[in-house]
Amino acid sequence: MRIGLLGMGTIGSGVYEIVARRADMEIARVLDLRRIPGLGDKLTARFEDILEDESIDTVVELMGGLEPAHEFVVRALRAGKNVVTANKLMLSHHYAEVAQAACESGAGVRVSASVGGGIPYLHNLLRARRVDNILWVGGILNGTTNLILDTMQSSGAGFDEVLREAQRLGYAEADPSSDIDGIDVRSKITIAMNIAFGGVADTREVPTEGIRRLTGEDVRQFARMGRVCRFLARAERMEDGAVCACVEPVLLEKGAIEAAVCKNDNIASFEGEYVGVQHFFGQGAGKFPTAYAVVEDLRDLAAHPGKSHLRAGEPPLKLDARRLKKRYYLRTAAPVEVEAEALCAVGAGTAYITAALNTADMHALAARLRNIDGATFFAALR
Ligand code: HSE
Repeated sequence: MRIGLLGMGTIGSGVYEIVARRADMEIARVLDLRRIPGLGDKLTARFEDILEDESIDTVVELMGGLEPAHEFVVRALRAGKNVVTANKLMLSHHYAEVAQAACESGAGVRVSASVGGGIPYLHNLLRARRVDNILWVGGILNGTTNLILDTMQSSGAGFDEVLREAQRLGYAEADPSSDIDGIDVRSKITIAMNIAFGGVADTREVPTEGIRRLTGEDVRQFARMGRVCRFLARAERMEDGAVCACVEPVLLEKGAIEAAVCKNDNIASFEGEYVGVQHFFGQGAGKFPTAYAVVEDLRDLAAHPGKSHLRAGEPPLKLDARRLKKRYYLRTAAPVEVEAEALCAVGAGTAYITAALNTADMHALAARLRNIDGATFFAALR
């Protein structure tokens, strides 16, 4: 197997190092705009050097972002090259097109590293869906935010202080928006539900609430309530095929399995009608865990050339966030216009427990309350 590697960042260097120790595969070219010592003639800034090299049969895309990653993946597949990608954002937006391009040329596209990094989650979800009816997918799918929540809980420190420390230690990105606003998790739950339910969801329709407005006072209030805050994604299929999906902070009872997930670990879960609930725990990010998943996909492609994780021609998934109701913790200084029990003053606002609300209504309510109090925070109760 001769590989063209797109992107020599953290994960790309991990893949390079693992592949360099193997006899069954070789990195023939590396696309990166930076000067990278030690790569010599392998380094190129032109994608065409990889696309037009007929000796390269497989492209590994680890550039991240939407463009030009999307363009390069589709062009590589159309040229008949297998593709392995960890790019969750690109897959969540261009799932159907990538699947179609692979199907038309007979190339394989594999995406294990895009959800859960080194955790064998998609691998097992793909196996389960052959036999079982998947009822829901979800879990803690982001390590950075779990580290922030766990540290706030154990140290009593505020959000900004904990985020700065996570950045100093190299866990959180310099621009942490994609993690703390839930876009990274939204992309992952979109890929997981597409695979689980055999369809294509519009990722922009998944109600997504991040954790950037959480305060140390909120966390102390959760402790008084006997609850632990975790950042969860979930997509559940209704009997008529509609999918109720969301990404939001959730207040769990202390005994819940997700409450025991600490530091930057992930837990990715699904429930099948026959197999019941399955949880997969471990490092969902990081250089070698993610690179490991990429090399697993490369091995699978070598054994089964052209065997894809994505299926072409699947129907759109109908998302409906009004199907399931939950009570919510709501902290705001704005007047609350729904039925809710006031608990106590928290910071400059009041903490409430709302009557059961559907996800779409709660997210819309928070958007309205933020016109008056931009710091309004909410979390579902489970
Ligand atoms: N920033 C992500 C995380 C990396 O912290 O989980 C993997 O998407």
